[in-house]
Amino acid sequence: MEKVLIVADPGVDDAFAIIYALLHPDIEVAGIINEYGNVSQEDAVRNTWYLLKIAGKEEIPIILGAHQPLTGNSPEYFYNIHGVEGLGFVRPRLKDSITVFPFMKVYDLIREHNGKLTLVNLSRLSTLALMHLHQESNIELAENIMIMGGAFHVPGNVTHLAEANIYGDPHAAKVVATHGKDLTFIPLNVTNRAIISNEAITYLTKYSKSPFAKIFHPMMSYYSSQYENIIPNINGAPLHDVTLFCYLLNKERFYSVNRQIFVVESDASKGLTYADFRHVPDMKANHPIHTIVLDFDYNFFLQDFIQVMM
Ligand code: RIB
Ligand code: CA
Repeated sequence: MEKVLIVADPGVDDAFAIIYALLHPDIEVAGIINEYGNVSQEDAVRNTWYLLKIAGKEEIPIILGAHQPLTGNSPEYFYNIHGVEGLGFVRPRLKDSITVFPFMKVYDLIREHNGKLTLVNLSRLSTLALMHLHQESNIELAENIMIMGGAFHVPGNVTHLAEANIYGDPHAAKVVATHGKDLTFIPLNVTNRAIISNEAITYLTKYSKSPFAKIFHPMMSYYSSQYENIIPNINGAPLHDVTLFCYLLNKERFYSVNRQIFVVESDASKGLTYADFRHVPDMKANHPIHTIVLDFDYNFFLQDFIQVMM
C-alpha cells in the first residue's frame, strides 16, 4: 500500500489525479494540502472537499498550504483552462462548512506515518519550498517526494520555455531543486503526452461504476475544448497530474535519468528548467541530483487509467 500526501490546486487534471488516488486499491490518501495555482486556494479547498464528499472519504484532512508565491507576487490563475470554479462544467454547491487544518498538520501526519509517506506535488512548489526551508530546523520531510513540474528541452505551456508549476513560483522551484534530496520530477516531456481522449471519457461515462462517473464528462468536455483551442485536433487533453500516481505504482513503465536540476528565476526565461543531459554531465559541487522522468509507456498509462476509473 502506498501512503500519499497530495499537494494540489484542483483544477481538472488535479481532480482526476485525486480521483485516481482515491479509487486505487493500492493507494491510501493520508491528507490533501491545497495551494493556489490553476485556481485560488479557496476554490481548490472547495473542489477537494467536493471530491472527498463524492468518495465518502470526508475524514481525509484538507490542509492549507501556500496561497501565493513566496515572493508575494499576485498569483495568476487559469480559470480559462479549468472552468469558472476549476472543475470544468461542474459547479460544486457548498452546503456544509468545510473543516480545514493549518499547515502544521502536515508534520503530525508525517510523524504518525514515521515519515513513510510519498508527497505527491501537483501544483506550484511554494508549500514544498517552505517545507524544505523548515527542514533546516530538523523537521522531518516525507520519505519520497514527487513533483509534476518542468519542461526539459521541450516547449513550456505557460511561456514557450516554462511549465506552469515552475513558472508560478520559480523562486520556490529553485529552493526545492537546490535543497531537496533525490526528488522525482515528472515534466511536460511525459505529461503533455498523457492524453485521455474524448472517446475514453464517453466510454467511462457509460460503463464506470465509480461514484465519480457523473462528473467525468462535464469536467473533461470543458477542459478538452480549451485544449482544442490551443492544439487543434488534439481530441482530448493531457491529464498531467495523473501520471505521478501511475509512475508511483508502475515505475518500470517509465524511463528516467538522474541529473542536477536548475531553474531560471526571472527575465525572459523565467521558469525555465534545465539539466545537463550529456553522457558525462558537468556536475556542480554541492548541488543535489534528482530523478527526471523523460518517457513512458503511453498505452499502459491509458489502460491503467481506464481500469482505475471503472
Ligand atoms: O503544467 C501542468 C501543471 O500545471 C499541472 O499540475 C496542472 O494542473 C497545472 O497546475
Ligand atoms: Ca496541478
